[in-house]
Amino acid sequence: MSMMSIRSATSRDRDAIRQVEEHAFGQATEAGLVDALVANADCVLELVAVEEGVVVGHILFSRLHVENGGVRTPAVALAPLAVEPSFHGTGIGGALVREAHLRLKAAGESLSIVLGEPDYYGRFGYSHARAAGFESEYQCEALQALAWGDAPEQGKLIYAEPFGSQIAA
Ligand SMILES: CC(C)(COP(=O)(O)OP(=O)(O)OC[C@H]1O[C@@H](n2cnc3c(N)ncnc32)[C@H](O)[C@@H]1OP(=O)(O)O)[C@@H](O)C(=O)NCCC(=O)NCCS
Repeated sequence: MSMMSIRSATSRDRDAIRQVEEHAFGQATEAGLVDALVANADCVLELVAVEEGVVVGHILFSRLHVENGGVRTPAVALAPLAVEPSFHGTGIGGALVREAHLRLKAAGESLSIVLGEPDYYGRFGYSHARAAGFESEYQCEALQALAWGDAPEQGKLIYAEPFGSQIAA
């Protein structure tokens, strides 16, 4: 029986997180992005999934702002999400997203943005329709949003500085 558990990431998890990100994406870009977001204190929530003491999944939400009429409203950006390839399809990615959403809502967050596969993120409530009013250089069908209650529907998305051009989840 699977004993997967989810907990907040700690500084001791950094190497394991880097491994999971590199294995999942097959490149170091996302792992580097994670390190930069953490070093820059842009991270809002970071969780790991653990199987038998080993980190096999990772999710990070960073601070993003929606700027409209000179007002900046805080939101979060989901990126990256990664699961160790040998564990794909066992529910770990979904469990990480759902647990993170519960914690973000409880913390008072009202809007999450993701740039990713609509077929995947749609199952958690994200939609392009909810993100279509935002101004972003990444505006496209893959840009999706999920709101909990009252949150902006228009405005310019301002990502944390380490993103540069790498914002896909
Ligand atoms: C995407 C990822 C995090 C999913 O993790 P996971 O633990 O395998 O996901 P779950 O077990 O919770 O869900 C599996 C389901 O998601 C679907 N799925 C996985 N990746 C998908 C994708 N890119 N697009 C559409 N559906 C996808 C699977 O087909 C499966 O569908 P089913 O439930 O109908 O059988 C994992 O595949 C991964 O790390 N991929 C490489 C990194 C990546 O691409 N991350 C960003 C995703 S846009």
